[in-house]
Amino acid sequence: MDTIKLNDNNKIPVICYGSNIISYNRDNFFKNIILVIKKILLLKFNELKKDFSICKIIDEMGKNDYSAIDTSRAYGISENIIGHKIRKKREKYFIITKISNYDQYNGNIEWSLKDSLVKLKVNSVDLLLLHWPVPEKFIETWKEMEKLKGKGLCKSIGVCNCNVHHLEEIKKNCSVIPAVNQIECHPLFTQKELRDYCQKNSIQVLAYTSTARMDTRLYKTCLVDIAKKYNKTITQVILRWHIQIGNVPIFNTTNVKRYKSNIDIFDFKLTSEEIEKINNININSRLRYDPDNCDFTKL
Ligand SMILES: NC(=O)c1ccc[n+]([C@@H]2O[C@H](COP(=O)([O-])OP(=O)(O)OC[C@H]3O[C@@H](n4cnc5c(N)ncnc54)[C@H](OP(=O)(O)O)[C@@H]3O)[C@@H](O)[C@H]2O)c1
Repeated sequence: MDTIKLNDNNKIPVICYGSNIISYNRDNFFKNIILVIKKILLLKFNELKKDFSICKIIDEMGKNDYSAIDTSRAYGISENIIGHKIRKKREKYFIITKISNYDQYNGNIEWSLKDSLVKLKVNSVDLLLLHWPVPEKFIETWKEMEKLKGKGLCKSIGVCNCNVHHLEEIKKNCSVIPAVNQIECHPLFTQKELRDYCQKNSIQVLAYTSTARMDTRLYKTCLVDIAKKYNKTITQVILRWHIQIGNVPIFNTTNVKRYKSNIDIFDFKLTSEEIEKINNININSRLRYDPDNCDFTKL
């Protein structure tokens, strides 16, 4: 897997799998057992299969030399499962986790990372992110994260969901410039201005909801013809577009075949005209929360 050098010289794989099992509780084993039993009794086997597809996908990732996986304290039992699955081959995974809003409100920044490390069964993560720029909190949180990097508990530190004004505030008040900014970005919402700012400031963009959750509107665009031309899927063309415009895309799937297909994008190259056409699909349609207008206590 190719890698990109971050502003602190650490390297991140060019594409990343996003793991998210929010229906399960990270700390309550018995509640989870009851949830599984309920799903069995209600014959929801497909749902259960999807919930635990992450196990098979992590095994699949282990067949590559180096793969990136994105998790968070807010993603239910995702950290626990990753820890269990990677414990014998840590060196094969670039692990990203995040400081949740709940922990920012409580001010438990070091405790929260240490708890994540226990769940992930590792001594350090490759990248620690601030999940949301919680007003009145995120600057203090960032300063704590700088200390955690100094202590070697995480190799790089970065942010999520920061707009230019949040990044400017960090630049003005703190010593470390974020290595990455993980933001919503896809053909329906390309965030050009923010991406340009990040590029100018050597902040790597990690694109989440990178396939726009395969929104039906994508099937009425130039992506259809471009995919036909290269004998690829629309998802593969979108992920390839991200890489060529300098993003590290993060995608989620509960299907191993789709995981394999989504990373099979290194045998073709979009032309600059095709890149421009995909850029022009943008209709500023945000599918997730707006960091300048959301209830941080609910995320
Ligand atoms: N930092 C943040 O605040 C933040 C916020 C949101 C997300 N994220 C990260 O980004 C990751 C991805 O985000 P996301 O789940 O919102 O968006 P996404 O990856 O764009 O969309 C996932 C959806 O796309 C479908 N899909 C994937 N590959 C496909 C294919 N080849 N063909 C058809 N459908 C396909 C999946 O369905 P199937 O399961 O059926 O394949 C799933 O429903 C998350 O897991 C998380 O790690 C971060």
